[in-house]
Amino acid sequence: MPGLLERYRPYLPVTDRTPPLSLHEGSTPLIPAPKLSEALSCELHLKYEGLNPTGSFKDRGMVMAVAKAVEDGADTVICASTGNTSAAAAAYAARAGLKCIVLIPDGNIALGKLAQAMAYGARIVAVQGNFDEALHLVREISAAHPIALVNSVNPHRLQGQKTAAFEIVDDLGEAPDILAIPVGNAGNISAYWMGFREYRSAGKMPGLPRMWGIQAAGAAPLARGVDRVEHPETIATAIRIGAPASAHLARAAVQESGGLFDLVTDDEIMAAYHRIAGEGVFCEPASAAPVAGLLKLHAAGQLKPGQRIVAVLTGNGLKDPQSALRSVAAPVAVPARMDAVLESIL
Ligand code: F0G
Repeated sequence: MPGLLERYRPYLPVTDRTPPLSLHEGSTPLIPAPKLSEALSCELHLKYEGLNPTGSFKDRGMVMAVAKAVEDGADTVICASTGNTSAAAAAYAARAGLKCIVLIPDGNIALGKLAQAMAYGARIVAVQGNFDEALHLVREISAAHPIALVNSVNPHRLQGQKTAAFEIVDDLGEAPDILAIPVGNAGNISAYWMGFREYRSAGKMPGLPRMWGIQAAGAAPLARGVDRVEHPETIATAIRIGAPASAHLARAAVQESGGLFDLVTDDEIMAAYHRIAGEGVFCEPASAAPVAGLLKLHAAGQLKPGQRIVAVLTGNGLKDPQSALRSVAAPVAVPARMDAVLESIL
């Protein structure tokens, strides 16, 4: 498959001056989850965004935003990030020959994401504060300096990200009944909703899904119906966000689709994380939130049986090896002898 700017060109703000930037992002698999489907009495598919070039859905928006930054003559991009955005920005900036500056919350970014931004050559500033504070800073910097902001408040990001909705419909032949998705800064749920609506207007399918946005309990302003959570906290550092920048769009998506917001605890997130791994699919903790939400709502009798559901697994499990290691017993070391190995396995 070609990259997204080529595959979905008619639906994107691509002009003759837009560079053909691509790392072959998108076209990620929609993987059936038979065990979870049985547990939920539904048909669950996992949109495995962890298979994008930098291991998260951020590549979809970033290819568009960086291509437009090049088109507009920028030589530097900047973003605040809980990790995945910074990895994607750094990769596409490197590819396009731009400088990249990223602000990350000091001590609260998964190891793999930090390693990626470093390897791709970004200038990394670890801010002693949370994501919300870092986003505030980069917005001011980009307003005062000739540096392109590539957070999802940049509309080109959502344009690129909406292509995931197109792919789901292209694969299923119609929209699912429910689209379950983790919500942090609230850009992605907004982008999916835009994508589903556009594809329906284009005559690709008759119906629209209900949008179910799932937040971590310690960082759940939308699910709690408040404007902000002052000190967001969760093991799912990707969505450790207290004041989502696209809250208004996300609320509209949920309202217009007849969907819902809900929240899940860190324990529920990690339980879902292991059940997803039990399907042979490895995602990062934030990506397990929508499955945790589905399990919770099923247990509460709020999930009608027989529905077709897509859960978006936003990031690859390899991003966050520490969470994987923390949640299971460490492997036992034994001498390199047959008797010792057999004793430990039989
Ligand atoms: N899942 C993962 C793995 C993420 O990295 C993010 C956001 C989300 C879900 C939530 O998406 O913000 O559009 O609601 N990560 C951003 C970042 C904030 O900086 O990488 P959202």
